[in-house]
Amino acid sequence: MSERPAFYITTPIYYVNDVPHIGHAYTTLACDVLARFKRLDGYDVMFLTGTDEHGQKVEKSAEKAGVPPQEFCDRVSARFGELAEAMDFSNDQFIRTTETRHRVSVQHLWKVLEDKGFIYEDSYAGWYSVRDEAFYSEDELSDGEGGEKLAPSGATVEWVEEPSYFFRLSAMQDKLLALYEDQPEFVKPKSRLNEVRSFVSGGLQDLSISRTSFSWGVPVPGADGHIMYVWIDALANYLTAVGYPDEGSDAYSAFWPADVHMIGKDILRFHAVYWPAFLLAADLPLPDRVFAHGWWTNEGQKISKSLGNVIDPFELIESYGLDAVRFYLLREVPFGNDGDFSRTSFVQRCNADLANGIGNLNNRTLGLIVKNCNGAVPKPNDFTKEDNELLSSIDNLIEDVRAHMDNQAFHKAFETIWQQASAADSYISVQEPWKLKKTDPERMITVLYVLAEVIRQLAILIQPIMPDAADKLLNGLGIGDQERSYEYLGADYRLKPGTTISKPGVIFPRLEMPVTEGTSE
Ligand code: MSP
Repeated sequence: MSERPAFYITTPIYYVNDVPHIGHAYTTLACDVLARFKRLDGYDVMFLTGTDEHGQKVEKSAEKAGVPPQEFCDRVSARFGELAEAMDFSNDQFIRTTETRHRVSVQHLWKVLEDKGFIYEDSYAGWYSVRDEAFYSEDELSDGEGGEKLAPSGATVEWVEEPSYFFRLSAMQDKLLALYEDQPEFVKPKSRLNEVRSFVSGGLQDLSISRTSFSWGVPVPGADGHIMYVWIDALANYLTAVGYPDEGSDAYSAFWPADVHMIGKDILRFHAVYWPAFLLAADLPLPDRVFAHGWWTNEGQKISKSLGNVIDPFELIESYGLDAVRFYLLREVPFGNDGDFSRTSFVQRCNADLANGIGNLNNRTLGLIVKNCNGAVPKPNDFTKEDNELLSSIDNLIEDVRAHMDNQAFHKAFETIWQQASAADSYISVQEPWKLKKTDPERMITVLYVLAEVIRQLAILIQPIMPDAADKLLNGLGIGDQERSYEYLGADYRLKPGTTISKPGVIFPRLEMPVTEGTSE
């Protein structure tokens, strides 16, 4: 087994009732960036994503499409696989809840909960939302315009009465409150922890965990006609992927409990209340953290199919290129907050930080080296105070970046890196290496060396967010694959004089402003 520390990160598994949109791409991107970061930082990473294929919502969508549910699931799940490819996600696994290994795993978990006395049979009479796949109590509902009852999410609910098995969630209140107390980083951001704590403090009702009015789900062991509630089925995927129920397996020993379950704020209750309750009841270790990020709106509007404003990630990549899409989504909005997607801010952000930022810095520096230093990294002379200042701040940057990444503060991590790129920009403007060619060629060489070294480290640092652009930058500097991990940051592995430098191509194309009514550009 690996000597390296392990890191297990998961995305929610996505319902296959509909094709992927920007929200799905966003969650998985955040995980991908963290997974890549951790790999570069010396961890053995398990990065899991996949699809949630059971339940009434999926069954209904398949019916509507006129195809058998499994065929429908295969088709839509494949689209999520294509998204992973288009977004260059580096997931180690793609799990599907219709796989046999998952049925085995979740049925085992059920039996454990039953043997420990946490499951009993009764009947459910109450409200259910198919869209949310969630049960709601009367006091959580509001009245819709047409007299229908609405869940807090805005989804309509229907009255359900059926025989059902229940999980003794009510017995878990104290344990859950103790968890939030003892492990305050279990839910992040903090506002979400408060939300969860107040929900649990209000008292918990037992949870209906089987359904009998339809059949698309995992059969409850030993109970004809019952299938599992889709959320117990879905949550267990995090265990299945690391080999559960084989608690002695290498994967389980290495990776369970998970380090981070990344989710959107819409599914907080399932992950921060139900999931730890199931695990506590089954005597299984709890994950370290559930991070609930915010939601995107589109040009100020809620994203919804009925409004026709769903943002298609495939189209975005086609229009702007993958590097820009990855960068914008995680740089623009403080991670954890809601954010508004706007094409204008997209173009402004990418042009400022990428084309005019790191791209321009790289073009100027490498262009001058190719022209004036025989196309190879020059051997620097003594460093001045300014050189040393710039170098030492980039040498130590990883400390701050790491701290931000460990808090899932992606925007802060990138801000820290881009501040360094700006510092290099200021340095080049002050030093004016293009003028030094005539006045002080020896100094020019040193300035260009310092700049190239800064670019080397910036490129290593930005690999998680823009793997493709970083690869081009590192290739331009002749940095081999073996010298790209975070071990190679800092002063010990400075650029080697004599390394051949390639003529820089366009790494970050300048994007066109969208033409909208009222825009004079
Ligand atoms: N199948 C469940 C999750 C089970 S996990 C054990 C599910 N699936 S989903 O397809 O509805 O995906 C929900 C996730 O998509 C959200 O938690 C969030 O991560 C992401 N998003 C969906 N729309 C979004 C936005 N508009 N903005 C940001 N993310 C959103 O729930």
